[in-house]
Amino acid sequence: MKKKITIVLLLGLFSLLVLPSFTLAGGHGHTRAVKKGILLVAFGSSIPEAQISFKNIDKKTKKIFNNIPVHWAYTSSIIREKLAKQGTNLDSVATALAKMMDQGFTHVAVQSLHTIRGEEYDDLVHTAHAFKSMPEGIHIVIGAPLLSTQADMEKVAAAIINNIPRKRKKKEAVVLMGHGSPHPANAFYAALMFNLQRKDPNIFVGTVEGSPDIEDIKAMLKEKRIKKAYLMPFMSVAGDHARNDMAGDEDDSWKSVLTKARVKCSVVLKGTAEYDNMVNIWMEHLKAAMSHFKK
Ligand code: CO
Repeated sequence: MKKKITIVLLLGLFSLLVLPSFTLAGGHGHTRAVKKGILLVAFGSSIPEAQISFKNIDKKTKKIFNNIPVHWAYTSSIIREKLAKQGTNLDSVATALAKMMDQGFTHVAVQSLHTIRGEEYDDLVHTAHAFKSMPEGIHIVIGAPLLSTQADMEKVAAAIINNIPRKRKKKEAVVLMGHGSPHPANAFYAALMFNLQRKDPNIFVGTVEGSPDIEDIKAMLKEKRIKKAYLMPFMSVAGDHARNDMAGDEDDSWKSVLTKARVKCSVVLKGTAEYDNMVNIWMEHLKAAMSHFKK
């Protein structure tokens, strides 16, 4: 009698201890070989000239992480639909991660190519988390956007100052166009302006869809009696916003608004991801993400 109880107890213990770890091994007990990958995630752009930014990042990523496959996803569904009509198919984050999971990737570093930790980034984090809880879940680590910490702020400010056209004189303004957002992270644009102006008082940061806007910037230029400004996008690509809202000929473009206020404008149509010093900051974030997979 005693023996039977011991056996039953042992079986109970066995099922308690062994079965759960068996299940945890995933699938039907077979363990998967480690396969690391990188997923680069941008907002996206449908403008062909803007692709230069993405190509630059792609090239740099493959050079630094030479044995690791690099995949891409765009967070903007509007851009993806537009591109699909032109015959180019780009994945959403969910589709890209699902494909990578099916291809046997076990560890994926997802690098956000966004500028601030705004809405697009929040959505990316939520999607990535959903994949972690799947039965054959993958290890996902997310690399931070360009401007995430005070340390980034200083690096970004230094890079911006370095990328200003050499011919610009100190009394002339440099006006950066950020995207802007209703998200609290929008405050980073004004914070960046503060950090920049400590080094060079005539650099301004405005946004298309947030605050400060072009009217705020115009008032600041007027107060300083600035006669000339270099307009530069502060977005990874010189896409639709840079070409139309910043440099376009329509009445409400930044160029038109400032020209009307008697500020001569010179436009620079280069996205931040075309500058290696900026791409390096994203790459540092990706290296930090990848370092979680070393163990
Ligand atoms: Co926009």
